[in-house]
Amino acid sequence: MQVPELIAYLNGAFAPLATLQVPVLDRGFLFGDGVYEVIPVYSRRPFRLLEHIRRLGRSLAAARIDDPHNEAQWLDLVHKLVAQQPFEDQSVYLQVTRGPAYPRNHVFPNVAQPTVFAYADPLLPPAPALVQQGVSAVSADDIRWLRCNVKATSLLANVLLRQMAADAGVTETVLFRDGLLIEGSASNIFVVKEGQLLAPPPSHLMLTGITYDLVLELAATHRIAYQQRAITAAEVRAADELWLSSSSKELLAITELDDLKIGNGQPGPLYRAMYQHYLDFKRDVMRAKDVP
Ligand code: PDD
Repeated sequence: MQVPELIAYLNGAFAPLATLQVPVLDRGFLFGDGVYEVIPVYSRRPFRLLEHIRRLGRSLAAARIDDPHNEAQWLDLVHKLVAQQPFEDQSVYLQVTRGPAYPRNHVFPNVAQPTVFAYADPLLPPAPALVQQGVSAVSADDIRWLRCNVKATSLLANVLLRQMAADAGVTETVLFRDGLLIEGSASNIFVVKEGQLLAPPPSHLMLTGITYDLVLELAATHRIAYQQRAITAAEVRAADELWLSSSSKELLAITELDDLKIGNGQPGPLYRAMYQHYLDFKRDVMRAKDVP
């Protein structure tokens, strides 16, 4: 395994990523007993950092892991990590597990010291070809648990679902539960029908992305009609446009689902308009000097 020479953070100290180690008895390793965040950083400015830290707080509360830091400490940690990277645009990964405990027991240990890990990768925008031509996806029944609003590190189901897409040579797996659209294996999904943008309503069955919120905010700002409501699989297949969003993939059009063309098989007009709004927002707001 080749680990790049980057400064990362573990339990109170910054050190080269390759040198960091956690005990094998860490419950994150044994049980996937932890939560995480992925925060995009543009021109060294973490985007919606407070929203990410608050979502982390909600995930920790749902997992009943004591939050090891207050908000100010989290912000300070992320800013210090960002300042030590050699690249401007970054993807910050933050993880908190319930910590190491012996003996192995599903029940929470009496004394647990959460493990806090963070590092940053370079953040690259999606390749222009993906933006221009769109991407393909497959669909699958959502085999995950009923608390997908918790950003938990126990991601085996997401991993298996995402691998279905990789095995099919496509970008994402679109998930349905009981005939309704939920989200992607690592993204949120939007539908466009007759000029209206549709988004599945936030619930415990999906992770409401920071990018999902931004897309709807941009729709409101630019007077694009949208509705958050249950969307059937039939509506997805008959959509004029299908989009996916995430911090790392930004916004992409899905132009083929299970070998079936969506619309005319090209990124649609609303996608192009929204992507432009997204780029403008990134230039004018996300990179702006006066953003907290
Ligand atoms: N995942 N839904 C799921 C299941 C996700 O894993 C993600 C993001 C999203 C989009 O959330 P956001 O817009 O806040 O990135 C929705 C991250 C990128 C990951 O696991 O790497």
